[in-house]
Amino acid sequence: MQENPVVYLVGAGPGDPELLTAKALRLINEADVIVYDRLVSPRIMDLAPSGTPKINVGKQPKLHPVPQEEINQLLVSLAHDGRRVVRLKGGDPFLFGRGSEEAAYLRQHNVAFEVVPGVTSASACAAAVGIPLTHRGLSNGVRYVTGHCCDTSDLDLDWRGLADPATTLVLYMGKANIPQISIKLIANGLSETTPVAAICNGTRPEQRHIVSTLGEISGATSTADFKGPVLFIVGRVVELADILGVAAPEIRPASPLKERRRA
Ligand SMILES: C[S@@+](CC[C@H](N)C(=O)[O-])C[C@H]1O[C@@H](n2cnc3c(N)ncnc32)[C@H](O)[C@@H]1O
Repeated sequence: MQENPVVYLVGAGPGDPELLTAKALRLINEADVIVYDRLVSPRIMDLAPSGTPKINVGKQPKLHPVPQEEINQLLVSLAHDGRRVVRLKGGDPFLFGRGSEEAAYLRQHNVAFEVVPGVTSASACAAAVGIPLTHRGLSNGVRYVTGHCCDTSDLDLDWRGLADPATTLVLYMGKANIPQISIKLIANGLSETTPVAAICNGTRPEQRHIVSTLGEISGATSTADFKGPVLFIVGRVVELADILGVAAPEIRPASPLKERRRA
């Protein structure tokens, strides 16, 4: 217990416990209570002391067991009880993690907070399958985009701007909308042959990924029947997985759709 209430908004990274920051691990060990999301991997939760209370507020796509407003109130009330609260989120809390909404609510209620960044799934998944997000001559920039908008089926994105062959596009939360996303990108000028990687459960023991093209990624993803979070990387840098990826060449199927499991 402490005199000054404080909430730590902590990024847990993509799943591999070794990608947790030293600060995150220290705070997890010192917490009076941990409030965690669905995307925080069980292997990371296993690092927390067994006596620390752990509250699961995990959301699933289209199924939000604990509404965001209740999570916000819970954080304030735990902090007002004088507890050192660790609010643990997958990846980085300020990247598609609603960490900033929680921070704003804490500020409004005069609760001190600190944001502890985590390794976001874009860089972790890309590294795990041998794809650099930029590469001289292939991509001069990278954009992180949501593939899911506010529970509506139509994605309202700047498709013309996004369909840029000179940059890499990373799509978070795009699994359900990948058919719509690929059609829009092609309609706005990206070639059907643009390479695309889909990485499921990146950095976890059950990691799987496929390499395909924009024209075929929708069918390939549905065939792969991924169970778990999926990140899409679109752009020429995906070609480099062939030489920088860790999967041995002999395990690749001959078809244009290449599926690999973690080595
Ligand atoms: C609500 S967003 C949270 C992003 C998180 N804050 C981050 O920085 O990675 C959830 C999306 O992140 C991506 N994601 C998170 N962890 C992942 C993982 N281990 N493997 C693949 N994708 C992941 C997926 O696109 C998933 O739908």
